[in-house]
Amino acid sequence: MSANRPAAVVVLAAGEGTRMKSATPKVLHELCGRSLVGHVLAASGELDPENLVVVVGHAREQVTAHLGEIAPDVRTAVQAEQNGTGHAVRMGLEALGGSVDGTVVVVCGDTPLLTGETLRVLAATHTEDGNAVTVLSAEVPDATGYGRIVRDDSGAVTAIVEHKDATEAQRSIREINSGVFAFDGQLLADALKKVRTDNSQGEEYLTDVLGILREAGHRVGASVAGDHREIAGINNRVQLSEARRILNDRLLTEAMLSGVTVIDPATTWVDVTVTFEQDAVVHPGTQLHGSTHLGEGAEVGPNCRLTDTRVGAGARVDNTVAVGAQVGPGASVGPYAYLRPGTRLGAKGKIGTYVETKNASIGEGTKVPHLSYVGDATIGDFSNIGAASVFVNYDGQEKHHTTIGSHCRTGSDNMFVAPVTVGDGAYTAAGSVITKDVPPGSLAVARGQQRNIEGWVARKRPGSAAAKAAEAASRGSAEEG
Ligand code: UD1
Ligand code: MG
Repeated sequence: MSANRPAAVVVLAAGEGTRMKSATPKVLHELCGRSLVGHVLAASGELDPENLVVVVGHAREQVTAHLGEIAPDVRTAVQAEQNGTGHAVRMGLEALGGSVDGTVVVVCGDTPLLTGETLRVLAATHTEDGNAVTVLSAEVPDATGYGRIVRDDSGAVTAIVEHKDATEAQRSIREINSGVFAFDGQLLADALKKVRTDNSQGEEYLTDVLGILREAGHRVGASVAGDHREIAGINNRVQLSEARRILNDRLLTEAMLSGVTVIDPATTWVDVTVTFEQDAVVHPGTQLHGSTHLGEGAEVGPNCRLTDTRVGAGARVDNTVAVGAQVGPGASVGPYAYLRPGTRLGAKGKIGTYVETKNASIGEGTKVPHLSYVGDATIGDFSNIGAASVFVNYDGQEKHHTTIGSHCRTGSDNMFVAPVTVGDGAYTAAGSVITKDVPPGSLAVARGQQRNIEGWVARKRPGSAAAKAAEAASRGSAEEG
């Protein structure tokens, strides 16, 4: 166990987030595959705290339900009315029995760029300097709206003054309060009892704890964040998009440094949960979501959107949308394919142009090259499905399964009316509607016989261009003959 392991992390997420102008609570807005609060919990989790409490208030049913999904072990504390950050932390501590021995780290639920590493440095500084409170601060280009870090002539931190309560001189300070702190748990609980509400917002400010502890003779300090962008709180959707861009760049930089080629980082978007192997290549206009994984040397894009999809080593996926699919090593998909959940394409298989698949297992080396729908099907190895085939899986009430064996050659424009089975090594004729099982090695022909009515055009369309062309053709063949 690390010496800097905090007794608790308290995440403040009770605020409304009015400036998002949204029916969705602010902390549930998403970037790179995670909610704002999800990112904060991920960073907090890196401290391995003994307790993790999220203070919820506004839209707490929705927030609590979300937490139940992403972090079922996390405790919640309710702050029914949003009376300020100090009040919120008080509610958080109450959920832990009023106070805790050891370090309490407080973070805001709307700072998704905060890293576990920065929190570790904060907790270490706090312990090593023997502080009662350590604030994570940062120098920012524009400090408007933030609480300012006030230092004395010796450079020691003396207080945090909120923008609205600051003097003109204090407003020129560019070192700001990130809203993230490490506290001594007992001293925090005591000081919170002394926090008053005689400020411009009539709220209990957590920031006042710093001044209270200092006046009582305790050590207070600051840990200055290396990159101020990391502590940015999201208040509106412009800031949300800026944070998404920064986080996406961070993820792509990490991928590129680990050996992935990203042709155009500006048009490539990834979730935090996406993984790559070396020499994967991502072409422009590509979005990779969820548990998507690109194997070694796999090449994806341009213009792909892959969700929860595994692409095998050396496979090629072009202009494709895929959800919950598996693409085998060396396989080829697209351009213009739609792979729906349960699609499994074997090694060196092919799902070609204008092909849609769903709940379909397509074997090694098997090809579905053109204009087809393959739903609820199992196809063996090294078979070829003719162009414009449809696996007719739905009778209006239930879905049925089609099985096609290995080394089959099915003709173009086939309908496989499920449930139906085509045996190994069988062929089917173009234009067939296959309603009955085809034994292995057979040729199935299921279409009307062709009938030619000779001289029909000359009789029914005399003098037409078609009739003249036909006459010339028959004259020509007579001369040749
Ligand atoms: C706060 C700080 C300010 C700091 C800034 C950093 C105080 C008094 N001010 O200001 O010094 O520079 O953050 O972004 O702490 N919250 C609750 N319950 C409440 C009020 C807030 O849970 O009653 C939560 C919010 O959901 C949010 C966080 O606390 O996650 C910060 O609240 P917010 O209103 O955004 O504080 P600021 O005014 O930005
Ligand atoms: Mg505020």
